[in-house]
Amino acid sequence: MRVTDDIIYVGVNDHEIEADLFEGQYEVPLGMAYNSYLIKDEKIAVMDSVDGDFEEEWLENVKNALGGATPEYLVVQHMEPDHSANITAFMNKYKDAKVVASTNAFKMMKNFYGEDYEDRRIVVGEGDTLSLGKHELTFITAPMVHWPEVIMTYDKTDKVLFSADAFGKFGANDVEDPEGWACEARRYYFGIVGKYGVQVQNVLKKAANLDIQIICPLHGPVLDDNLSYYLETYDTWSSYNVETKGVFIAYTSVYGNTKQAVEELAKVLEDKGCPRVEYADLAREDMFESIEDAFRHDTLILATTTYNGDIFPFMRTFITHLIERGYKNRTIGFVENGSWAPTAARVMKSMLEESKDINFVENKVTITSALNDETRAQIDKMADEIMKNY
Ligand code: FEO
Repeated sequence: MRVTDDIIYVGVNDHEIEADLFEGQYEVPLGMAYNSYLIKDEKIAVMDSVDGDFEEEWLENVKNALGGATPEYLVVQHMEPDHSANITAFMNKYKDAKVVASTNAFKMMKNFYGEDYEDRRIVVGEGDTLSLGKHELTFITAPMVHWPEVIMTYDKTDKVLFSADAFGKFGANDVEDPEGWACEARRYYFGIVGKYGVQVQNVLKKAANLDIQIICPLHGPVLDDNLSYYLETYDTWSSYNVETKGVFIAYTSVYGNTKQAVEELAKVLEDKGCPRVEYADLAREDMFESIEDAFRHDTLILATTTYNGDIFPFMRTFITHLIERGYKNRTIGFVENGSWAPTAARVMKSMLEESKDINFVENKVTITSALNDETRAQIDKMADEIMKNY
């Protein structure tokens, strides 16, 4: 596949991983793409490698794209093994090639693969350039998007930004994602990069000074139209702003009573005209779908049981994920259930008290086993308070 006349896609699609987890924790029902690109010029540069399970396929893709020519550079933008695993294989095959990477990347290369190519390397930092002939590459440091060594690369000839993990998504490139780009890109962003909003903002500021016509990420499709949409969406996500007005309710339920309260709250909110209401079971559905929904909406309701004097474990894990990712700038309310001493709301609130710019809903719902007239009245009061925001 050609990205431009001179840039050829040499990445691979991974469907084996659908039976496993990406990076040990993310479900990927549509597989995963590990992207790599080859820039053909007087000097040829290959942009990143791919996951270790695809060494042969990737080397074959590179060989075919080379058409008998010899590569001059392997640019390593990111050292996470889904992209760096075949550096050694490439350097062994192309003995005259040099690795181009950041200082930190070379340290990691030594640690991961026992070799940092002291005699065959070019260390690059912010604003450094590398001429391939017609194409001039400019390197942009992007620390913590999503590891400290990350660089992005701008080709000013074809106006292409090689964006490393940024703008990537879950899902292989040889299957159509029925939900389009945003859903799996959002789950990817908040799952993997979400903690580093400030660093993403810093890179977006640098990108704003570039004329970008095409974005080539390391996962997911090449983005070549309506780029302002992707840039603005990333700006919203990385600034922790609200993407969609509405309420997301995350719950756990042992016997179905808390679930019933959630369903009733959702119905009451909808009846009162809430712009959007979504809910999910943290134990039975992919938790990272819930994380992206928590960041997507302006209001989050947490509903869980009191459990061993604490809260149900899936809820504790969920809140921990949110805190780790700097959850802020939202309205949060609580529904608790406890048959003899309900304390879940207090525990959840104490976990979130250090989070910034949180408006807690004053009216909580306390269920002491099952719903009754009193708890239904609490649900109604909570919904009224939430609706004041719309
Ligand atoms: Fe796709 Fe951070 O590795």
